[in-house]
Amino acid sequence: MLNWDDPLAPFTGGARGGPAPEAEAAPELGPRPPAPAVPERPRAAPPAAAPAPAEEAMPVAAEPVRVEDKRAVNGKADINQLAPFRYPWAWSFFLNANKNHWTPLDINMLQDVHDYKHRLTAEERHLYTNVLAYLTTADVLAMRNIGLAVMEKMTAPELQIYQARQVYEEALHTWTYQHCIETIGLDQGEIYNRYRVVPEIHRKVAITNRRLKAVLRADIDLSDRDELHTFLLSYLFFAAVFEGCWFYNGFSPIFALQRRGLMRGTGEQLQYIMRDEVMHCAFGLRVVRTIMEEEGIRPDPRAVREMWEEAEAAESGYARYICPEPILGYSAEDHIEQFRYVANRRARRVGLEEPFPGARCALPWLDEQANIRKEKNFFETRVIEYQTGAALSWD
Ligand SMILES: [Fe+2]
Ligand SMILES: [Fe+2]
Repeated sequence: MLNWDDPLAPFTGGARGGPAPEAEAAPELGPRPPAPAVPERPRAAPPAAAPAPAEEAMPVAAEPVRVEDKRAVNGKADINQLAPFRYPWAWSFFLNANKNHWTPLDINMLQDVHDYKHRLTAEERHLYTNVLAYLTTADVLAMRNIGLAVMEKMTAPELQIYQARQVYEEALHTWTYQHCIETIGLDQGEIYNRYRVVPEIHRKVAITNRRLKAVLRADIDLSDRDELHTFLLSYLFFAAVFEGCWFYNGFSPIFALQRRGLMRGTGEQLQYIMRDEVMHCAFGLRVVRTIMEEEGIRPDPRAVREMWEEAEAAESGYARYICPEPILGYSAEDHIEQFRYVANRRARRVGLEEPFPGARCALPWLDEQANIRKEKNFFETRVIEYQTGAALSWD
């Protein structure tokens, strides 16, 4: 039975390995010894004037919230009222997100341990570990961005509720990478520090940190056009570049191994993550579009161009580092070209011009990886409930 005082007790045998807390807390029978005298401490004087109760701050007979007064940011309507929805699509995102629920423990990693030790080449191990090293740090950044920098600035609860789910999913993704790292038996101190010591990984993380820091400020005022522009660019970066391209490309080297029957457990884990990221990217781009329309603002074309150029340079360096020579079915050049191709798709989605005209789809199998319908494999017991309806599209 769940113990409210120590919910982990059934799994740990009690907080200190002793008797269950209920037993510890049970009243003793028989006469109690007198309690030892405790010297009375001097008490602080009560405050001179108690603050007004919170409910007094909100007038009782306020006008009903009008749905048309809701806004993504800079809204004036009461933010505690969920419905009627101004953004029913945001609520649909939340409902759909809840259909893609798994934990990394659901996926069998045994074969991956064998593959890593006995079947991967040194080059493939280099690729595999660096992909995990990047992704695990990146997902912590994703969580901090949406949870600490973005959510508090939204002024419609249906947007915040999906973002709250997104925060959880980013944490789940971090757990997933940690589970892979731990299961394979990699040196955690070394893997988790790679983003600090490998310039090609550090560069991507540093760019992201810069975008995050620009908006992770309690004093940011979105009624100021410059601040609003900074926020819009940051959101565009996280949705279009970070989740829409870097994550997407970040999974592809592992999928390339998975397609050859290698590291299939990890591949499966990343397929579930990719489904979440498909939604994060699509949701984020929709919020960006909404802010552009509602606030009458467009991102500065030069700033957008610089964002893409910087992202492409960082991604190229990263791809050539993780995959200096082509492996069977994968190369850095494919990775970079796919980045450009997907970048065009993300830009079109928010009505911006394509940053890399003419880029071709170098990894045509990648979209299919997100569309796991689970017709087969070890999830037999959950297969039916597991897929989120129609095949997913990144757009
Ligand atoms: Fe994530
Ligand atoms: Fe994400």
